[in-house]
Amino acid sequence: MTDDQLYALALEAAQNAYAPYSGFRVGAALLSTDGRLFFGANVENASYGATICAERSALVQAVFSGARQFEAIAVAAVNADGEAVGAPPCGICRQALLEFNDGSMRVLFGTAQALQCVPLSELLPYGFR
Ligand code: THU
Repeated sequence: MTDDQLYALALEAAQNAYAPYSGFRVGAALLSTDGRLFFGANVENASYGATICAERSALVQAVFSGARQFEAIAVAAVNADGEAVGAPPCGICRQALLEFNDGSMRVLFGTAQALQCVPLSELLPYGFR
């Protein structure tokens, strides 16, 4: 699984977002160390704070399925105009991912033309443990 392939899967996952309030569709593709793939998308709510991000949506599915260690996550976003735009994970999602990682997992975000790959430890250097 290349980084480009993982990002392409995240972009596909964004199609399944429920984002009637922001119009901002986010998809995540999460690769566990045992080679399994999990997907998520943002699910918004009329009470905005009840919204769940794509990354945590994928993480919850993975953990439910028994996965506990992760190689990489790709995050893809599509704006209200249907354009793919870069979206690094929010702070809450970084902390949620850190629960199941030593910080070495690869976080892929950006666009297909300008994909960025940053270790989680660099995105969240002082995460809570
Ligand atoms: N969103 C995510 O899915 N992941 C992030 O890391 C940041 C934001 C979603 C939440 C909300 O539905 C929309 O993007 C706009 O904030």
